[in-house]
Amino acid sequence: MASDTLTITDNRTGKAYDVPITDDTIRAIDLRQIKVKDDDFGMMTYDPAFMNTAACRSAITYIDGDRGILRYRGYPIEQIADKATFLEVAYLLNEGELPNRAQLDKWTNDIRFHTYVHTNLIKFLEGYRYDAHPMGMLLGIVGGLSTFYPDAKDIEDKQNRYIQRVRLMAKLPTLAAFLFRHSRGLPYEFPRNDLGYVGNYVNMMFSIGGKHEPNPVLQRALEILLILHADHEQNCSTSAVRAVGSSGVDPFSAVSAGIAALYGPLHGGANEAVLRMLDEIGTKDKIPAFIESVKQGHGRLMGFGHRVYKSYDPRAKLIKKVADDVFAQTGLNNKLEIALELERIALSDEYFIKRKLYPNVDFYSGLIYQAMGYPTDYFTVIFALGRLPGWLAQWEEMIGDKEQKIARPRQIYTGHDERPYVPMEKR
Ligand code: CMC
Repeated sequence: MASDTLTITDNRTGKAYDVPITDDTIRAIDLRQIKVKDDDFGMMTYDPAFMNTAACRSAITYIDGDRGILRYRGYPIEQIADKATFLEVAYLLNEGELPNRAQLDKWTNDIRFHTYVHTNLIKFLEGYRYDAHPMGMLLGIVGGLSTFYPDAKDIEDKQNRYIQRVRLMAKLPTLAAFLFRHSRGLPYEFPRNDLGYVGNYVNMMFSIGGKHEPNPVLQRALEILLILHADHEQNCSTSAVRAVGSSGVDPFSAVSAGIAALYGPLHGGANEAVLRMLDEIGTKDKIPAFIESVKQGHGRLMGFGHRVYKSYDPRAKLIKKVADDVFAQTGLNNKLEIALELERIALSDEYFIKRKLYPNVDFYSGLIYQAMGYPTDYFTVIFALGRLPGWLAQWEEMIGDKEQKIARPRQIYTGHDERPYVPMEKR
């Protein structure tokens, strides 16, 4: 018997089955042969929330949650965050290697060439109410982009896919800035292609009367935050992009689904939820009572815990350093002091230690965005800007993966057996 197999004995029938093991994994489909009767459907695996199921093979991002390791295409996140630019990282994730000078210039120029959006999109944006949530606006308007680029439907053409990925990279910052200006009632500031990717975005956000004095420390801090969010393998929004993309839809629609998934408070919406939690706590003396209520099961300590990181989130460590740089420029505030104290108490509390709950990427990111002048309900939009290259790289990888088909999970049916329709007068 081959040693790289798993032998399963079905005690219902006494039959044994040898299932091949590759990469410490068995294929769920190999279990289908396990049956009691010939006409049975065959055995399935049940894995709500995909706690232990690999849905793809991927060469993009490596995470070791127990050891707190995150690598993009093999490069440690610590080195990438320290040395690379966001566009370099986006290229690395999408193309598999760090770009040389000529490749980076081409990538940068291609993106720069596409930063403008059709002005009809402004009319679309103006249909939203003044208090519309920025993530609701973003997912709608990115979905709407697909109608402006019907050529994006041709997902079989590699060069065409490249153009659509470039368009998304180029236009998302423009749309993200436009929707901010819309909610403030400010005139739109059009892209300035003499500025870099991050500089242009910040200028479109904050320029008044065509004037904005960039702060290089805050700009680099924002760039590092984008880099830290750029990919995180098969998280909820990336899985949404892959699942929706697997139907063969254009990438604008698939990314719009990713934005919808990111909107949720357990995913990208956590940075916003952290700030709301700090507001609710209000003062340092209320922290013990708040921690107690979390331990009693009344709500969660937002910005703590992670599905994969069970020692620490390496991004949170790097973000803390960014926070120091930013707060050295902007000064400390009451919320930061509450956050520091909350972190100190939680890290020494048995409840959090036992469950391996540590600060995640979102614990400090919201505080940084706030210090930079972004409104609370806008934070997740910045997460989306950061995550976009990851979504695109994962989408591209999925399209090229011959093993992938339309995503279609199974279920265990728990409803009624067949029963006759009951007429209205008999119900
Ligand atoms: N506060 C209090 N208790 C928690 C928390 C928390 N933040 N997170 C998990 N727990 C408890 C949970 O109640 C459970 O306890 P028990 O075993 O007694 O029932 C135990 O820890 C395991 O929780 P879980 O829900 O099974 O863990 P999960 O891996 O499914 O959830 C998580 C991961 C991120 C959804 C969760 O930790 C959470 O809700 N955190 C707060 C929201 C947050 O910060 N999300 C941002 C994630 S990082 C950004 C991103 O990648 O999206």
